[in-house]
Amino acid sequence: MLDKGQPQRFNAYNSPHEDLREFIRRAEEAGEIVHIKGADPHLEMGTLGEIVNHARPEPPAILFEDVPGYPKGMRLISGATNSSKRLAITLGLPVPSCPLDVVRSYRDRMQQHKPIPPKTVRAGAVFENVDRDDQVDLLKFPVPFLHEKDGGRYMGTDDLVIVRDPDEGWVNCATYRCMVHDKNHISIYISPGKQGRQIREKYYKMGKSCPVLISCGHDPLLFLAGGNELRYGLSEYDYAGGHRGEPYEVVPSELHGLPMPAHAEIVLEGEMVEAETTKEGPFGEFTGYYASSPSAQPLVHVKRVYHRNDPILSIASPMRPPSDFSFSKCVMKAGMIWDEVERAGLMGVAGVWVHEFGGARMFNVIAIKQAYPGHARQAGFLAASCQSGSYLGRFVVVVDEDVDPSDLFDVMWAICTRCDPAQDIETFRRAWSGPLDPILDKASSTNSRAVIDACRPYERLKDFPSVAKASPELKKQVAEKFAEVLKTIGAA
Ligand SMILES: Cc1cc2nc3c(=O)[nH]c(=O)nc-3n(C[C@H](O)[C@H](O)[C@H](O)COP(=O)(O)O)c2cc1C
Repeated sequence: MLDKGQPQRFNAYNSPHEDLREFIRRAEEAGEIVHIKGADPHLEMGTLGEIVNHARPEPPAILFEDVPGYPKGMRLISGATNSSKRLAITLGLPVPSCPLDVVRSYRDRMQQHKPIPPKTVRAGAVFENVDRDDQVDLLKFPVPFLHEKDGGRYMGTDDLVIVRDPDEGWVNCATYRCMVHDKNHISIYISPGKQGRQIREKYYKMGKSCPVLISCGHDPLLFLAGGNELRYGLSEYDYAGGHRGEPYEVVPSELHGLPMPAHAEIVLEGEMVEAETTKEGPFGEFTGYYASSPSAQPLVHVKRVYHRNDPILSIASPMRPPSDFSFSKCVMKAGMIWDEVERAGLMGVAGVWVHEFGGARMFNVIAIKQAYPGHARQAGFLAASCQSGSYLGRFVVVVDEDVDPSDLFDVMWAICTRCDPAQDIETFRRAWSGPLDPILDKASSTNSRAVIDACRPYERLKDFPSVAKASPELKKQVAEKFAEVLKTIGAA
């Protein structure tokens, strides 16, 4: 029986998975994994990720095995969370019939979600192997070179960069790309405004270096937490723990006592030092471009590598969308925006969807049941400015509740028929963006936003032209009568 007040789990698995391996077993049972043997980490894995994820609908995760030139047991997983079913398994949500079901379940979950801090333990599988100082060799892992024009091999893509706020003591875990330079050096790219960067700056201002862990293989729920903007001060460990209904087990790292997932596959430890930077990038990014030129970023001298036997490296490969994580990012972001605008007091939200072609950031739609004049603009501005909707946003469309926010045809029909451009498209400037935004020139660091109000004007709700379509009753009756012929053309 479920305890009242605990997050509910409706899927076939009524206990949270312990680690990436247990998640893979469950996804395998659900028919959600394709095994590919013999792929070369140099370009073949990235290209296979593109081919598989560009073949719609909802692609499987890829487990790369028997990697040429590496020990047989070493594997990589790409796209762990990138389908409705795998997201439901990751979060412990009901098995969905469509992607919007996951968004609704996420938003319902958040109404009872309480952060659960991790539990510190003394031992964990991540300690099965510890490489210290001169023993460190990042090149012993099959680190992929993902796209032809990349500046190097990226070990951290589906990763967690773990740092501790020096003032408040809380631990931030975020997904930032990490490029391998040689056997014991790796660089980290963190965009302006990100919390890991704010924390790093605090250390630098104190004249200190910033201790850091990079986890490269862990429960995919931690990736969902690490790759999405949470409020400042909320640790991703606590947030993800709240979803699984149990604390994560963490073990202190040897050098800095930073908490690493006890069942992680591979964790690196070092420090970011203000004076030590190197040329990082370029890297094919989630917008579909190489937008940022190579730049000077912190170079971490890796002094410890902790890893399990036969470690599994997880990869997330950004590219012209869709990518091996863009679908899961859309679902998470839609749920997060829905939750956040409601926490800000907005009523009447009927649905939120974040479209994949916008890299899960640049074209977001919120559907509302209008209750008062100004409601639609309020919804649009909140969705464009809340923490999870702000970074590198571009367009927010507000539609009435009869429009499916996930159906682009429906959304564009609403824009064409209910939006008068001169008065219904609002823009605002100097919003949070950064070097990855392809529209920015080198001198700018902020972008502008459009909020498109594609709702019927509130004052005309009663007399706005009615929609020309069959009533649901008539449609059902006629569809039943002509079911046979409609079936032959797939329209039943
Ligand atoms: C696959 C993936 C890769 C990402 N890479 C980066 C990156 O290299 N640098 C960055 O600043 N943000 C990156 N992000 C976005 C951040 O993970 C996201 O903004 C997150 O909320 C940052 O955490 P923070 O709010 O604790 O700073 C990436 C997200 C994903 C899903």
